[in-house]
Amino acid sequence: MNPHSVRDQLLYPHECFRALRHEQPVYNEQAKFWEVSTYEDVHLLVTDHELFSSDESKFTPASEAPALKSILNMDPPRHRQLRSLLSQAFTPRALAQLTPRITEITQELLDAVEKKGAMDIIDDLSYPLPIIVIAELLGVPIEDRPQFKHWSDEIVSGEYDELTGENRELVLERVRQRVRKTMDEINEYFRSIIAQRRQQPGEDIISALLAARVDGQELTEDELLGFCALLLIAGNITTTNLIGNALLCFDEHPEAMVQLQQRPQLLPSAIEEVLRYRSPVTILARFAASDFILKEQLIRRGQVVLGWSGSANHDPDHFVHPECFDITRSPNQHLSFGHGIHFCLGAPLARLEAKIALGMLLERFTRIRITHERDLEPVNSTFIYGAKHVPITFAV
Ligand code: HEM
Repeated sequence: MNPHSVRDQLLYPHECFRALRHEQPVYNEQAKFWEVSTYEDVHLLVTDHELFSSDESKFTPASEAPALKSILNMDPPRHRQLRSLLSQAFTPRALAQLTPRITEITQELLDAVEKKGAMDIIDDLSYPLPIIVIAELLGVPIEDRPQFKHWSDEIVSGEYDELTGENRELVLERVRQRVRKTMDEINEYFRSIIAQRRQQPGEDIISALLAARVDGQELTEDELLGFCALLLIAGNITTTNLIGNALLCFDEHPEAMVQLQQRPQLLPSAIEEVLRYRSPVTILARFAASDFILKEQLIRRGQVVLGWSGSANHDPDHFVHPECFDITRSPNQHLSFGHGIHFCLGAPLARLEAKIALGMLLERFTRIRITHERDLEPVNSTFIYGAKHVPITFAV
């Protein structure tokens, strides 16, 4: 019944999700927090921002406030004001300008492995690509990449006990301390970049945010730092796993890979199906803004409600034959980028990077196969789903 117990396998926990949806769709985990798992309820969780708040600081003591304060954990009206500043970075026009550079980076990464006939999708392609792109957008030195990787790993890495174990409070405190320490390091790093940009503005997002005004006011330093950290972390680890998970899906469904090599125009819908079938982000979190009843369960103000988007994406009440991996699926309204006011701002960029990376991989290489399948190890995280490494062999 408990989905966490099977998350250390790379198998998607379909059985557990099915049981949750049927038997306890609004589930109270050890009286600590609530979990919802049907499409209808997860959709409600992310759409009704009056019932479900994203702003933890309204409900928890300051000592437990989230270390990463960004638009992700803000409610309107501030959320709306700040989000609109960032959305300009992801317009179709901005993305069209990025396309040649993303193509160039992908080409270089694939050139480097072409002769070997083998590569690790994660280390050689899907980790470096989004991190180079976001570093360039933020205008930070790409040589600091190992540091970015270390910080991302520290932020997303989770311990299963964090959610369910008996020592949950102890584990949570350890996780909080680790995240806070990492956030202090990230903030210190960006403080000096922001100071440089104040002196010498460039063409990057940080300079644009420094020049931005909301009702005539500059953003606070904390708001600027929140944006930088969110973009650095959210912008890479998720896209890394989208590309890695695509290979997992294609390897399981070789007919889909053949079809894509013959009809590359199916790639955008194949990417949506990967997002649905093996979502890189599996959990969304909110706080109950007031006491209310959901499916006969009383949820109290301030309680955490977790929504299993990974389960919602496989709910047969919403998707026809959800267990089928169908690269032509339409409609495909998965919740992998969330929904509503917090819908992922970087979704167009993630889709573009995945399309270019997978498109070029399938065009240049044939007979792509994952090797050592038994050794695939899951990413150590409570909310990110994917494999640490996806080693493949190929022919050219
Ligand atoms: C928000 C997933 C890539 C920036 C979100 C949310 C999800 C998500 C589920 C909503 C969280 C919630 O409602 O609580 C993903 C996935 C990605 C991806 C699966 C890749 C496959 C990116 C990229 C960027 C980005 C590339 C930027 C470079 C953001 C931002 C938000 C966000 C800024 C906050 C939006 C808001 O609160 O209004 N993402 N993301 N994401 N994402 Fe992404």
